[in-house]
Amino acid sequence: MQDVTDLAFMGVISHYGAPDYFFTEFFRVHSQSRPERHILRSIDENSTGRPVFAQLIGEDLHHLSRTVDELRKHPIAGIDLNLGCPAPKVYKKNVGGGLLREPAKIAEILATLRAAVPGLFTVKMRVGFDDATHFDRLLDLMNEHSVDLLSVHGRTVKEMYRSEVHYDLIARAAARVCCPVLANGNILSAPRAAAVLGTTKAAGVMIGRHAIRNPWIFRQCREQFSGQPVTVITLADVHEYIERLYRATQTPEFAGRYHVNKMKKYLNFVGQGVDPTGSFLHDMRRTETESELFAVCDRHLLTEPTRAFAVEPYPGVIARPNCETPVAEADGCSLETILG
Ligand SMILES: Cc1cc2nc3c(=O)[nH]c(=O)nc-3n(C[C@H](O)[C@H](O)[C@H](O)COP(=O)(O)O)c2cc1C
Repeated sequence: MQDVTDLAFMGVISHYGAPDYFFTEFFRVHSQSRPERHILRSIDENSTGRPVFAQLIGEDLHHLSRTVDELRKHPIAGIDLNLGCPAPKVYKKNVGGGLLREPAKIAEILATLRAAVPGLFTVKMRVGFDDATHFDRLLDLMNEHSVDLLSVHGRTVKEMYRSEVHYDLIARAAARVCCPVLANGNILSAPRAAAVLGTTKAAGVMIGRHAIRNPWIFRQCREQFSGQPVTVITLADVHEYIERLYRATQTPEFAGRYHVNKMKKYLNFVGQGVDPTGSFLHDMRRTETESELFAVCDRHLLTEPTRAFAVEPYPGVIARPNCETPVAEADGCSLETILG
């Protein structure tokens, strides 16, 4: 996830139980592009013990191939193609989710990347742009071009991030493509992951925002899938997570108020599980300094430290009221885009 799955966040997540694989933030590919250094760090300095796939967003065949050649010099698990980003500034350039309107163009891109990638080539897609008209055709293209793994976010581009997820379409993908399918979208908790696997028959789940809120979710999924009791997380555990995240994301360039603002982007998700009225979120958003931020965390998380952190977000407590209508021209899927 852009602005999220960087090296620091991957390290924090892996402390609580890493996923089987990571996918980087997307590398933008165009005539002037070079793989972004900060994203390369999440590959070169990955010490999580788990493989990391490099995700690309773009449509120019020559430059996609060139970027694959550059990335192959780094320890990647494979190359992933983004066919899902819904930010208007992205899809208007006919990349990311914008490409879902043009199956013929996608066929060319898949052919090019399949030829350029000797190892694992994976795709992340939504179910369509306005609707799922081209979905079956797109799934058949995944088979024709021997895609190795397909992640399906069960929403259209126009549905952004908050509509119902079309798990029936994910089930259709799992039945139709030859490769494993990862079900994505609103995998809120380990029980929810198990239910979605049961109904879609997908090979696995991909988890985005809910790993920001609850970094224990991958470990809890493993417990759930193997029939063990699922670890209960307390508010004191969440306090420790916030401290760890704060230390991990601290850099000389990102100090003081900038750092507090960066933390707020993560805490917008964390706060969904702290209290049913959203009062942690209310207070947290009004802080400006490190000491104010931690005073709020202490008050909301350490007054009743053994109280359970909600397994799923409290109903109605959302990261931002307007997160379905992201800043129209924001450049990408960044937290600013999602949170408004
Ligand atoms: C802040 C943010 C950044 C994201 N960046 C990317 C990205 O770079 N590439 C991508 O394939 N999906 C990206 N996504 C979409 C997620 O991978 C995922 O498909 C979506 O959030 C739905 O899954 P979830 O309900 O588990 O969050 C991003 C989502 C968020 C919230």
